[in-house]
Amino acid sequence: MISLTDLKKFKTEGRKFSCLTCYDASFAKAIQQAGIDSILVGDSLGMTIQGHDSTLPVTVQDMIYHTQAVARANQHAFIMTDLPFMSYATVTDALKNAGAVMQAGAHAVKIEGGAWLADSVQALTHNGVPVCVHLGLTPQFVNLFGGYRLQAKTRNAADQLLADCHAVVEAGAALLLLECVPAAIAKEVAATFDVPVIGIGAGADTDGQVLVVQDMLGLNFGKVARFVRNFMREQSGEHAIVNAIKAYHDAVINQEFPAIEHTFQVELSS
Ligand code: KIV
Repeated sequence: MISLTDLKKFKTEGRKFSCLTCYDASFAKAIQQAGIDSILVGDSLGMTIQGHDSTLPVTVQDMIYHTQAVARANQHAFIMTDLPFMSYATVTDALKNAGAVMQAGAHAVKIEGGAWLADSVQALTHNGVPVCVHLGLTPQFVNLFGGYRLQAKTRNAADQLLADCHAVVEAGAALLLLECVPAAIAKEVAATFDVPVIGIGAGADTDGQVLVVQDMLGLNFGKVARFVRNFMREQSGEHAIVNAIKAYHDAVINQEFPAIEHTFQVELSS
């Protein structure tokens, strides 16, 4: 079983680690067979499983149900579970809802935001809950952002992102997750902090990589994001799904994924 200590050790050793979203027992077993290091029971299940057009309708009860299914079927990966929209608006809510998903089988919770989460991060950490803070493109903020787009494109925005990372790491965040930010910013974050940094659309220099499992298996029927690679394309035969997931794991470990075409190489505007 991979622990938080293992993920920290991977970072120290420069060994990249793989993460995939997972919401059910069948995929949890496939992911275990493929040797994936960590699982995110993501609130992206609002789209991939429930058919909504955002993560906002997802409830704590949904996250408990899917975490239980995943935790029963996977004894290898470090499991993180998203606290859904508005379920950590106060420190009291964060403690109550994180407690429930940890009791469902998560090894850590993920919450979206920045410096304003510091009190919750500290309270959760003091109560034995490792916290991953998701920054950059945070899907629960889609209505504020006006869509799903690249974040931290200006020097000011990048400096704000770094300040947010400092605040939550000082409060005790165990992991950071950066989504859709320029590769240079993600590299700076990963080099600045001791905690493992996971990236999605954040370039090759983060410590871990995450993708939505349906996306990397080509089960995305909408617009495919730049940072997604379809690992199913090269597979055939009865073990195609496990082999595609294993190919993703190997590509992350061998630093073949993400390649330049999956990353945002932008000059920061002032
Ligand atoms: O919910 C999710 O799947 C996520 C990933 C996009 C990182 O937060």
